[in-house]
This record gives sequence, C-alpha cells and structure tokens, in this order.
Amino acid sequence: MSSPSAPARKIVVGVAGGIAAYKACHIIRAFKEVSDEVRVVPTAAALNFVGKATFEALSGNPVSTTVFDEVDKVQHVKIGQEADLIVIAPATADLMARIAAGRSDDLLAATILVATCPVVIAPAMHTEMWHNPATVANVKTLRERGITVIEPAHGRLTGKDSGPGRLPDPEQIVDIANAVARGVSLPRDLAGKKVLITAGGTKEYIDPVRFIGNSSSGKQGFALGEIAAQRGAEVTIVAGSTVELSTPAGAEIIKVSSTREMFEAVQERAGAADFIVMAAAVADFRPDTQASSKLKKGHDEDSLSVIHLLENPDILATTVQRRTAGELDSNPLIVGFAAETGDEKTSALEYAKAKLKKKGCDLLMCNEVGVGKVFGHDDNQGWILDTQGGVEEVKQGSKLEVAAAIWDRAASFRR
Ligand code: CTP
Repeated sequence: MSSPSAPARKIVVGVAGGIAAYKACHIIRAFKEVSDEVRVVPTAAALNFVGKATFEALSGNPVSTTVFDEVDKVQHVKIGQEADLIVIAPATADLMARIAAGRSDDLLAATILVATCPVVIAPAMHTEMWHNPATVANVKTLRERGITVIEPAHGRLTGKDSGPGRLPDPEQIVDIANAVARGVSLPRDLAGKKVLITAGGTKEYIDPVRFIGNSSSGKQGFALGEIAAQRGAEVTIVAGSTVELSTPAGAEIIKVSSTREMFEAVQERAGAADFIVMAAAVADFRPDTQASSKLKKGHDEDSLSVIHLLENPDILATTVQRRTAGELDSNPLIVGFAAETGDEKTSALEYAKAKLKKKGCDLLMCNEVGVGKVFGHDDNQGWILDTQGGVEEVKQGSKLEVAAAIWDRAASFRR
C-alpha cells in the first residue's frame, strides 16, 4: 500500500475472458482507494464480460487490448516496464498457456513478457480445466519462473458444478498481491502437509444471551491458513468467533463456540497433522453452570451478580503432552501464540519466554497486546521464540506477512 508521502505505485490489473471478470472491478477499486495508479489491460475476450467503459471509469486510464493502440507511446513495452506490480484476475487457462509459451499476441501478454516487477496471477476456470495436465504444467512453469500463481478457491462454479476453480474474493487477491509486492514469497514447501490451526475467540455462555469472551477477530489465524494453503498445505481451521473472513483456498473450517468444543475438535485431528498452530484467543475460564433462562439483576447466588468460574482445559499444553506421550502419530510441530502485555518489572518478551517453557511447544509467536494493539487490526508484529533460545523479530506488516514469517520459521525449524 502506498503511504501518503510515497509516490503512487503503478499497478497493472490484467483481466482475461472468464465469468469472474466482474470481480476485477472490486480489485481495481481496492487499489485506487489507497491511491495507487491503475492501468487495466484486459484481453479482447474479457470485454465480452465487462465493458471497456467500466474499466476506464474505475481506473481513470484508457483501456486497450491490442498492441496497435497508442503506438506512438510504445505502450506494448511501456506499461510492463513501468509497472510496480501486475495482478491478473481472473486468468484463464488460455492466458496462462500463452504466458508460459512466451507469446506477445495481445497487449496483456506483451506487458507480461516485458515486466520485471512482481506478477501475481489469480486463475479461475472449471475444475477439469484446472486439473488438465496442460494447465498443471503451465502453472508449474509460471511458478518456476517466479510468477505467483494463487490457488483458486473451492466452491460453486459458473453452472451447478462446484470444486476448485473459483476466483478467490477480490480482497484476498489484493492482500496476497500486496504481500508479494512487499517481498513475501509463496514456495510450495508445504505441499502434501496437513496443517491444523485454531483461530478466533472462544465464548463461554453464562445464560442464553450473555457470555464471557474476547475481541479476537480471527484474522491472524485465517492469514496463517491462507499462506499455508497457498504454499500447498491441506488446511483445517478450528474457528471460534471471528469477524467475517474469506475461507482460504481449499481449507476446511470447523466452527466451534466454547473452549471445550475447540479442545475436542483439535484433539480429534491433532494426530494427523504435520503442523499445529494455535492462534486462537482461548477463554481460560467458564461459568460452572449455564443458566437455561436469562438471569436477572439481583444479589443472590442465582443472579448475574455472582458467577463462579471453572478453569478450562489448556488445548495447547494438552496437545504437547499427548505428543510427548507418543499419542500423536504424525509427530506435529506445534506453534503457540502469546498475547502479552509488559509491566513495570517484566517485558512482554520475557513473559513470552516463560510461556514457551510452560507450554512446551516448539515455537511461540509473541505479540504485545493492549488497547488499540493487534486485536482486530490488519497489522501485526512481534517475535518468534524457539526452544533453542532463538528470538526472531517479526517486523510490523500485514497479518499475511506475519503469517508468511511464521511459516518460514516453522518450515526451517522442522528441517
Ligand atoms: N491456549 C490454549 N488453551 C487455553 C489457553 C490458551 O490452547 N486454555 C493457547 C492459545 O491459543 C495460545 C497459547 O495457548 O496459543 C497462549 O495463550 P494465552 O492466553 O497467552 O496463555 P494462557 O495459558 O492463558 O496464559 P495467561 O495466564 O497469560 O492468560
């Protein structure tokens, strides 16, 4: 994203001819909203789905599909040479085949052939086309050449069929593209790995309408799932309460409410996971009873004024103990989170070091929380601690960038 003082980034949004072309309008808008300069380069087929006037009005720039418009400005090389980031959404199988073959038969293909900036491609097509060996080979070629090809979402396609091939939500594409532009790479190092993540906050009901909970948004847990999915992993997210979030490509979401439900969901799946990351903000206590009808104000034991609490099970510590006891066949690497505040005597980092020892996990991501810090925000920062005494600083970045740093550390620690 551009900061107010930084020059506007030059973003090229390429659009190929698929039904999802309309979603490109939201992508153009998202870049324009942070003051990026956007040039839309559609294929001729894309204009069957969305008109040139729409792209011109949204981007504020002329739109052409061929190398023979504005020839005096040598647009077929200039657009690609000047771009800071190219995002193609949707990309069809045909467009990827043309890029992989190094063709330059329209303005979009020529632009990519010239570009030296990061290129992010978001494919969308029917599942059969996505799985076709020709497409698989082309995607592999593009990735080997340093182009980021985003995994498509799973779900409803144009007709009644559903499967992998949907264009991810525009916001997901923009977030990934921004992370890639800031240096995040998405190697396929988690291919074939099973990843289990906890996300969001748990709720402990006092009566049918009131609960003890926290303001965790679940964004960091979902960002971890997004990056893992893009790095090839099979992802399951056990999610408590979260804000509305897009499902990472192919991820399974298990919705839970209380800590005990999250505990059960994790223990059921822990023995199959290669990596377990516990990013959830778990309620440590629950009321000893849950009233079946709404409690009234008052001063007796059955009113809202007296709530007796019981301690909840520790999901992370129990999972580590089960691994130590040899109960988890897959011997997963386990990553915990610590949301800490420092005080006059001890820093947040020192508290986190003690927590790593207490919980017994392999890595611990520590971030400092407090009013206005981290919870619900789009940015995060902190330190990744390991059992060898290592402390790696994670600089302030989007939750996707922080997730990428955690996966880099987890993958290298496993090795
Ligand atoms: N956690 C868990 N089960 C719990 C509490 C916490 O799995 N009942 C996990 C969290 O998901 C996180 C890590 O443990 O990965 C640390 O959470 P935190 O709330 O900081 O730790 P607590 O053990 O509750 O310690 P504190 O006394 O500081 O609240």
